[in-house]
Amino acid sequence: MNFKDLAKKYNTPLYIYDLNHFSNQYNNLKNAFKGRKSIIAYAVKANSNLSVIKHFASLGSGADCVSIGEVKRALLAGVDKYKIIFSGVGKRDDEIKEAIEKDILMINVESEAELAIIHNIAKNMGKTARISIRVNPNIDPKTHPYISTGLHENKFGVDIETAKKMYIFAKKSEFLNPVGIHFHIGSQLTELEPIKEASAIVADLVRSLKAINVDIKFFDVGGGLGIRYKDEELIEPYDYAQAILSTLSGLDVTIICEPGRFLVGNGGYFLTKVLYEKINGDKRFVIVDGAMNDLIRPSLYDAYHKIEILTSVQNPKISKANIVGPVCESGDFFAKNIDVPETKAGDLVVIYSAGAYGFTMSSNYNTRPRAAEVAIENGKDRLIRRRETFEDLIECEIDYMV
Ligand code: LLP
Repeated sequence: MNFKDLAKKYNTPLYIYDLNHFSNQYNNLKNAFKGRKSIIAYAVKANSNLSVIKHFASLGSGADCVSIGEVKRALLAGVDKYKIIFSGVGKRDDEIKEAIEKDILMINVESEAELAIIHNIAKNMGKTARISIRVNPNIDPKTHPYISTGLHENKFGVDIETAKKMYIFAKKSEFLNPVGIHFHIGSQLTELEPIKEASAIVADLVRSLKAINVDIKFFDVGGGLGIRYKDEELIEPYDYAQAILSTLSGLDVTIICEPGRFLVGNGGYFLTKVLYEKINGDKRFVIVDGAMNDLIRPSLYDAYHKIEILTSVQNPKISKANIVGPVCESGDFFAKNIDVPETKAGDLVVIYSAGAYGFTMSSNYNTRPRAAEVAIENGKDRLIRRRETFEDLIECEIDYMV
């Protein structure tokens, strides 16, 4: 990847996505499930640029969405409506109504209260809503607490007994069609055992539902497959698929999995430029033009992202430094105390593994326009989101001129 040319052409800060990498990851996972009916439903939240979703749609991917906005993105990008799932712990009535109108594959329900509301809304519309229920299997996924979701102490899903009650209610309702079951125990998973355990618990529930004539067709195992940011041991897609399949004997279900990070994480790069360096006491800071508003993962999760400095200094001295942005927060950093060569203004800094939860978690904090996004496919680059302007940022503000 020629970062210098891309920076010259599109300027910085810049997100760059390698669509060929995205395809490879998709095909790899899809192949792991071959021989079984499966849908890979790309978790749009990881990177929701329409061109990225469209790319996955062209490979046959579905979409896992957590707002009606994401559902609309998926539809706009050409995802088959019968491969779209609408999840989320809190859905507004208007979102539920629109999801039913749009006739997507299923709404993934996360509480008894939500099920009752969906029932009422579908009844008022004279329609039947296809649903799945998110089960919380109470499994520790052994990941960062902020992205762990499968324990009872987390807000997600319902316990097994509640799920059973909900399926019985849905079965009785002519306005609800319980077609699926769902679990998602966390993100950036690097251990197989918790997924297998959760899958076994939920598969047992599917068997007991069958006994009472609730016929589950879609077995949704969530997302969560981890990627290598540094030196993590990874779960191989084949082993992942085998572990899940081993829990499903005797069940004729379509497997759905909802990867986000696995598909896009390592195909994304965040490119930023050195503004200048400074020394405070004995601390060296390299200040760049990207900031926590562009990529918040280091500030929010203390996440590690590999950083490469393309210095133009000949035989540069190397010393410890913090790579920081211009935002007025001490938490605005990309890395702390790493070895950094001497730099000059304009030198490029490449932040790796930025394809997932990078741009989608960015903001306009400090009235900073969001970065541009570029896709690379078969060696060719194209702009897929233009850089924001000041005018974009103030567009929704209406009261100040009176
Ligand atoms: N399905 C459900 C129900 C989810 O909640 C998530 C992620 C996924 C699928 C996709 O998970 P993935 O395959 O990407 O791990 N912002 C955090 C990650 C939050 C994940 C939220 N849910 C980060 O930057 O690490």
